[in-house]
Amino acid sequence: MQYSEKVMDHFMNPRNVGQIEDPSGVGEVGNAKCGDIMRIYLDIDENQIIQDVKFMTFGCGSAIASSSMATEMVKGKSIHEALAVTNKAVAEALDGLPPVKMHCSVLAEQAIKAALIDYAKKHNIHIPELDGVVIDDDHDHHHDIEEDEE
Ligand code: FES
Repeated sequence: MQYSEKVMDHFMNPRNVGQIEDPSGVGEVGNAKCGDIMRIYLDIDENQIIQDVKFMTFGCGSAIASSSMATEMVKGKSIHEALAVTNKAVAEALDGLPPVKMHCSVLAEQAIKAALIDYAKKHNIHIPELDGVVIDDDHDHHHDIEEDEE
């Protein structure tokens, strides 16, 4: 599989790895198929600007590169600008991902949204862009997963 230099760079030297103590919002999403998990922490100030962002990803190289790039893309931005960061934008910023790895970038978009949903809930803020957004993680997957697969 051919990875771009940017993907390799963000995989080998991921930016913004870690945790934020007492974050404004935290979002965790998982991919039921590969079992990978991504968690994003946001520190948001009173003007709704993302001052800091950290991530922890237990997953494949593309998921790590996607979370690294996504955190770079939302840092210093308003929550509305952050919500406009799609998985496609993340993949493009990485100079592309192999087609079978596109779903890894979806995790990054969803983790940011999940963290902003958490922020909105905790601070009693209504974010219109998040109306009707359902995070499709492994807790509410519709496909039945064989329990006795191993
Ligand atoms: Fe699971 Fe990439 S293979 S997120």
